[in-house]
Formats: sequence, C-alpha cells, structure tokens
Amino acid sequence: MAPLNLVLKGTDFVLRSYSPAADLYQVRKLFSKDTCSREYAPDLLPQYATDVRFKPYILEGPMGVVAFVAIRNLSADTDTSNKRLVFVEAVRVREDVRGAGLGTELMSTVVDNVRAAHPEKQHLRILATTVFQNEPMRRVFQKTGWTSAATMLLWPSDKKVLQVINSTAPTLEALGVANMVSPDVFVLSKQWKEIRTPSEILAIIHYLRDSGSEYLRPDLFTVEGAIASSRFLCHELAKQEGRSVWRLTRGENPAGLLFVRPRVLDPAVTTLDCTVSACIDGVHEAESAVVFAASREELPYFRIIFDNGMTPDMIATSPMLSLCGCFPFLVYECTQ
Ligand SMILES: CC(C)(COP(=O)(O)OP(=O)(O)OC[C@H]1O[C@@H](n2cnc3c(N)ncnc32)[C@H](O)[C@@H]1OP(=O)(O)O)[C@@H](O)C(=O)NCCC(=O)NCCS
Repeated sequence: MAPLNLVLKGTDFVLRSYSPAADLYQVRKLFSKDTCSREYAPDLLPQYATDVRFKPYILEGPMGVVAFVAIRNLSADTDTSNKRLVFVEAVRVREDVRGAGLGTELMSTVVDNVRAAHPEKQHLRILATTVFQNEPMRRVFQKTGWTSAATMLLWPSDKKVLQVINSTAPTLEALGVANMVSPDVFVLSKQWKEIRTPSEILAIIHYLRDSGSEYLRPDLFTVEGAIASSRFLCHELAKQEGRSVWRLTRGENPAGLLFVRPRVLDPAVTTLDCTVSACIDGVHEAESAVVFAASREELPYFRIIFDNGMTPDMIATSPMLSLCGCFPFLVYECTQ
C-alpha cells in the first residue's frame, strides 16, 4: 500500500508501511503501554520486520506515531474454495489519543485497502480477534462492519499458567486438578495418535468443520500457522519448532485434532507460548486433551486454545476444566 494521507478531525496524518529501522522505538513504546501487548509484542515485532506475509503499517501525525496495525495475508488452503484469508491484527492506538475516532478510521481505511487489493471479492475473508472484555475494540468492529464469527477459549487462566511455571510439581498437580481425572478420561488421553501427512490433517479439518467445529486457530498468531494448517508439518519452521499434530478418533470418525507448538525459536522470548490448538467436539475429549498435553515432556507448561466446537457452557460442565478458568477470544469477520 502506498502511503495514504488522511485528515482526521482537522489534523493531517499519513498511513504508511512500518519501517523497523525508523519506527521501532516509537512502536515499542506504543505496545509497551498495555498489558496484553507487552506479552506478545516482543515476539511479534521482529517477525513483522522479516516475515513477508505481514504488512505492518503505522499512522503518523504531527505528534509522531499514533497507531499501528498489521495485515497478515494467508492462503486458506484448508478450504476447498481456495479463499484468501486476511487477518488484521495488533491494532494499537496511542493511549493519549484514544477515543477520538482514530481506531475506527484506521480499521475502515485498512479494510478498504485490503478489498481494493483483492478484486476477486468472493474469495476474500477478512478476520480479526479480540478478547470479550475489550469493549472499545468491539465497538470499533461494530462501527466498521464486522460481525462476531466465532469464539475461541484460552485455557487455563493466566493465574493458573503462572502457577504451573512457578511450580516444580507435575502440571496437573500444579493446576490442582490431578485428582479430578476420571479413569475413562485417562484412557482417552492415551488414544491421541500423531498425524504426519497434511492430507490427513486436511481431511480431519474438513470433517470437524462439517460437524460444526470450524478450525480458525492454526491461522492465528503463530509464526508458521500462516501457511495454513494443511501444510503445518511440512514447513521448515514447523520442523525447527518441533510442532506436531494429533488426532482422536471416536468409532470411525475424528473427535478431535490438536496442533502442538512446544516452543518458540528465540530462547530470549519468555512469553507464555507453549500452545496447543484444539478443535474438539466433546467435554471428555477436551479433558483428555489436557491430560495428554500434561503428559508431554516438551510442554513444561501449556495453554490450550479451544476452537469454537467448545463453548463456555461445555467447560462449565467439567469440574476439571472449570476450576482453571478460561478466557474467551472473539473471532470477528468483516462482512460489509
Ligand atoms: C481498541 C483501540 C484500537 C480503539 O482505538 P480508538 O482510537 O480509541 O477508537 P475510536 O475512538 O475510533 O472508537 C472507540 C469506541 O469505543 C468506545 N469506548 C471506549 N471505551 C469504552 C468502554 N470502556 N466501553 C464501551 N465503549 C468504549 C468509544 O466511545 C468509541 O465508540 P463511539 O465512537 O461510539 O463513541 C484502542 O483503544 C487501543 O489501542 N486499545 C489498546 C489495544 C487494543 O486493545 N487493541 C485491540 C486488540 S484486538
């Protein structure tokens, strides 16, 4: 996108590509202000500089850099219609200028530009996420033509993950749920089988999607997820990071799929980034995924991101899952 001049409330701004050399200092400052980005920004900023799928932008005015946004272009090869997926992420408006309409203007300008860059509109999906509690961002989505498309649940809560990190006890003990694992869930946890071929992953994704558990997560936030889930195992980065994919079968049919990302490549990065992405359609299966993950040596602590097959109501029926709490993430889609 060429630099765009915008006049907002009588002030001149320019929306232009982020340049790590020139803008890193100001952008870091922008990110360091709020708690959620302090967690993942250190991980993302170097990626924004080097990963060609990202298109990061800043909004600059007479008072310096006032906002940041990144576009991530993906080809959704998990989807037979071969749609383009574009994620809009890491939207940040500087604290001292929030509430003046900049976030809204930034989002609508970015969406207009994404649409203009993809004339084959029927093949384009524009997605973004935010946490349920983020009312200003949800309002910005509402004002710029987005609708909430799905909810993902991040389990366990921050407090519980820290409890695991700070404890030498086995994970389930540190989480306080070791004695809540029923024998049948324990047996189920041993039945997760590793998958090695993208075609098998793709077939399971399609099956789960057809039964209502659309799998959006592998395309979000991770370094390599961007290539899309069906190629998950083939990419060099995935190999270096020790990623693996696991499936659970009920009768003849898939009942769950787990993408395991045990570690990030940069040892200096200390974010809570041992993630297990789960597409699961039952509470027992979800519990078995927790027990399975806790049994893996490469996951000294972990967070499971349950995709939208699992709901807060389902979590509430499990004493083991509900004890640790979960955090809803809303997936938004631009529909206008
Ligand atoms: C979310 C964010 C980008 C919005 O930017 P902004 O420039 O303040 O957005 P706007 O001024 O265009 O609009 C904000 C809207 O939220 C509303 N709002 C602000 N605080 C609110 C609150 N506590 N509850 C409900 N609505 C609220 C404003 O009133 C405004 O709506 P309105 O135009 O109908 O009055 C900005 O607050 C931000 O950077 N937050 C921290 C980072 C973040 O959360 N990013 C999103 C991660 S997905």
